[in-house]
Amino acid sequence: MKESITFTVLSPCIGAYVNNVDLSRPLSDSQFEQLYHGLLRYQVLFLQKQPITPIQQRTLAARFGDLYIHPLYPHAEEVKEIIVIDTDQDNPPDNDNWHTDVTFIDTPPAIAVLASKLLPEKGGDTLWVSNIAAYDALSEKIKQLLQGLKAEHDFKKSFPEYKYCRTEKEHKRWKKAAEKNLPVQHPVIRTHPVNKRKALFVNEGFTTRLLGLTIKESDVLLDFLFAHINKPEFQVRWRWQKNDVVIWDNRVTQHYANADYYPDRRIMHRATVLGDVPFES
Ligand code: SIN
Repeated sequence: MKESITFTVLSPCIGAYVNNVDLSRPLSDSQFEQLYHGLLRYQVLFLQKQPITPIQQRTLAARFGDLYIHPLYPHAEEVKEIIVIDTDQDNPPDNDNWHTDVTFIDTPPAIAVLASKLLPEKGGDTLWVSNIAAYDALSEKIKQLLQGLKAEHDFKKSFPEYKYCRTEKEHKRWKKAAEKNLPVQHPVIRTHPVNKRKALFVNEGFTTRLLGLTIKESDVLLDFLFAHINKPEFQVRWRWQKNDVVIWDNRVTQHYANADYYPDRRIMHRATVLGDVPFES
């Protein structure tokens, strides 16, 4: 029997609830396929009341592809593919800016799976934006201007050295990561490898400059694109409850974790699925 998954759409261009899935049990092939199709369509999927362990989270994420091990973030005990984002006033987050995860590598993640583990009493929402909707809303003239342009993405923009000098061990780890992750180039307009939709592919977290332009031209154009991408029209906002799980298509979205919850603490677990080399067609 085919178990059907249903979706409730949350906004015109991004986000849907997934209504009838239990992630503590392995998904059937049919359920997984429906989930993946929902992800391609809605770009971000929200699942509630899913108390999954790090191992279950890894198993789910690994069905989408190979998992990425982050060079800096700590991981769950004995599950190195699950990043632990544990933040409070003394250890503030670095994801309270608009970013697409890990665009500083040649094959940035395709998908991420995020589970809430400890939440502040108030605040700590996450917002996602559809880079497809942002691209679609540009005028033809600007689309033409961006065609064929490449941008540089740099690990050090979100992970600057001065933030990683608290201990010698931390600094050594940062230096190793910085040596391994030199700036890379990606197209400014990215074609989704599966559904072929076009999306803007620059983000404030990691994009440093547009190649072939003067510094001034690059700064002005990037500032315009960063402001354009973050229009509320392209967004969905999630107010977390414990054991929520959110899955997003990292190829065509970006997100912002609101850091408005101090002095409370917030703990999230993330699995990150490697993607392919971005291209424009
Ligand atoms: C992330 O930036 O990947 C995690 C977002 C969050 O903590 O809400």
